[in-house]
Amino acid sequence: MAIKEKILVTAALPYANGRIHLGHLAGAYLPADVFVRYSRLKGNDIIFICGSDEHGVPITITADKEKIKPKDVIDRFHFQNKEAFEQFGMSFDIYSRTSNQIHHETAKEFFLEFYKRGMLNEKKSWQFYDEKAQMFLPDRYVEGTCPKCGYDQARSDECEQCGSLYDPSELKQPVSKISGQTPILKETSHWYFPLGNYQDKLMSYIAEMNEKFGWKDNVLQYCNGWFKDGLKERAVTRDLDWGIPVPLDDASGKVLYVWFEAVLGYVSATKELGIEKNNPELWKEYWQGKDTKYIAFIGKDNVVFHCVVFPAMLMAWNEGENNKYILPQNVPANEFLNFEGLKFSKSRGWGIDLHDFLAKFSPDSLRYTLALNLPELRDTDFYWKDFQARHNNELAHILGNFVNRTMTFVHKHFEGKVPPIYQLETRDTEMLETLEQYPAKTGALIEKYRVKEATLETMNLARAANKYFNDSEPWKSIKVDKERCATTLNICVQTIYTLAELFYPLIPFTSEKIFKMLNTSVTDWDSCGKYTLNEGHRLNTPEILFSTIEDGVIEEQLHLIKDETKRGEKEPEEEQINIDEFDKIRLRVVEVLSAEAIKGSDKLLKLKVNDGYKTRQIVAGVAKFHDPAELVGKKVIIVSNLKPAKLRGVESQGMILAAETADGKLKVVHPSDDAKTGSRVK
Ligand code: MF3
Ligand code: ZN
Repeated sequence: MAIKEKILVTAALPYANGRIHLGHLAGAYLPADVFVRYSRLKGNDIIFICGSDEHGVPITITADKEKIKPKDVIDRFHFQNKEAFEQFGMSFDIYSRTSNQIHHETAKEFFLEFYKRGMLNEKKSWQFYDEKAQMFLPDRYVEGTCPKCGYDQARSDECEQCGSLYDPSELKQPVSKISGQTPILKETSHWYFPLGNYQDKLMSYIAEMNEKFGWKDNVLQYCNGWFKDGLKERAVTRDLDWGIPVPLDDASGKVLYVWFEAVLGYVSATKELGIEKNNPELWKEYWQGKDTKYIAFIGKDNVVFHCVVFPAMLMAWNEGENNKYILPQNVPANEFLNFEGLKFSKSRGWGIDLHDFLAKFSPDSLRYTLALNLPELRDTDFYWKDFQARHNNELAHILGNFVNRTMTFVHKHFEGKVPPIYQLETRDTEMLETLEQYPAKTGALIEKYRVKEATLETMNLARAANKYFNDSEPWKSIKVDKERCATTLNICVQTIYTLAELFYPLIPFTSEKIFKMLNTSVTDWDSCGKYTLNEGHRLNTPEILFSTIEDGVIEEQLHLIKDETKRGEKEPEEEQINIDEFDKIRLRVVEVLSAEAIKGSDKLLKLKVNDGYKTRQIVAGVAKFHDPAELVGKKVIIVSNLKPAKLRGVESQGMILAAETADGKLKVVHPSDDAKTGSRVK
């Protein structure tokens, strides 16, 4: 076995204000898990850290929206996400939370260390303040136009579109998300970390890491962008009532800035892991061990915090008297995954979250499809049809088929035992050589974070295996040359073993099923391409690995997203009314007695309706989409207290409710069949 390395792997701590969706998985989590599972099989001493990011504005926004407490928000999503991650096969050693006391202590320790050394600059500044809501408006509570690129949904100090960071006072046309009003700038005081002092050090650190370990181009580009703009000091506190209180007197109402403390959550979580394992010093072995390598998996929106802010904080700490921390050796950030051609958007309901996905499909089908679509170099897309095709054509028909035909054959003709190997022919030796080369080949790709290629290559081995089976024609040799047939099937079983191992980082649930069928278990990576199952080894009965996903199932998913979402459209801003205002509007169920076109208009129909008390005349603008006759006898809903008005000279005593269909037709809305004529709609 190769020399063991000590490796620390972290995956971005997702905000506990919503559910994990496929975009998150493709950005950071699946690549991290593949890397970790592979590294474990290589025999490395590795820990894998994650948890919920539970402070900051994202949490308070969700709490405000739902009119519940931040604590309720984080409790709900922490446990939901933890469970979904488990079902997806994320092999974290710990999934912690930043609301834990140990984290509060760690974060305060860093702040106080910097504070005591006099590194933090206390400064008055002008911040957005909502006079109506009577509160300072941090970050995402303010939206406006980016001073750099003109993007009109930029946050108060950060633009999602061009990635620039700026001072809130530079934001153009600011709007408070709480009251919708223009906020004022009001003076407040905060502590600033001198990020600018670390620019040179950060640049040489990244250059050195890149030279030694090859950083991804997209990541380097983001970093260079910030360096070009020049790093400035950054406030590490905020005016907010949810978070880690600033550990100083006279700092009430102020908390540590979420990004300042969240990145330290990795350290706190490792401390917690050590405590769980009865080894409270464990975290030091990893975070302060000279020979540990640290890899931080994140999505592209987190690059500045992991490549600039966090390393600068650790550098600052390391200038002091205390034990020194290691810095990330690599930050292999991915770009974004889109969904059916558009950005994932929780507010627009666009996308699918992990919980819903796993309620219908297997985690490995998702892992495999995502692995082939990882946005490693640029943004990519998840398409339902592609998912179906990959599952059916590759997982089921290539991998599943090879395993199944081999296993069935061995059970039918060799009593379910690994057949002996006799004389090798060229085709056999070629197959065996291929098997031997594979672990190094795909392993090298995973080590370079090229999971997509590793996945393609691994499935290529399954393709080659089917070809070997076909070309060897064991169904013929079994009749004429049983030794030849035994040799073929022996090699096929070894191939299944190798496939199960090589696929283990990618589709672990399937690999485990295969190992069970083979009546064995996973071995170390480097020897999986060599002979591992002896002649006569008993195999268990095969089971089908993947059943076909039918068209109907996929159609259903496509319908769901079409119904739930208006593709790409922004939800309209709606002025809110109170219940009394709504109460003024009277809606009533009426029955259509007659309907006729109005001469000279192609839009209007004249209806006579029974409103429960008398007959009324209503003019409705739906002539283009309804034949008069089809409305007669139907129940519809009208606004019954609208002042009468004349349309084309015809009086209308109310207004009928209609809604647009998916193809843009205006159709009358019908209440349920048993709604009582004359009853009020409330
Ligand atoms: N919560 C952040 C997000 O979801 C990621 C935080 S990563 C951490 O984008 F390191 F800061 F924790
Ligand atoms: Zn911008």
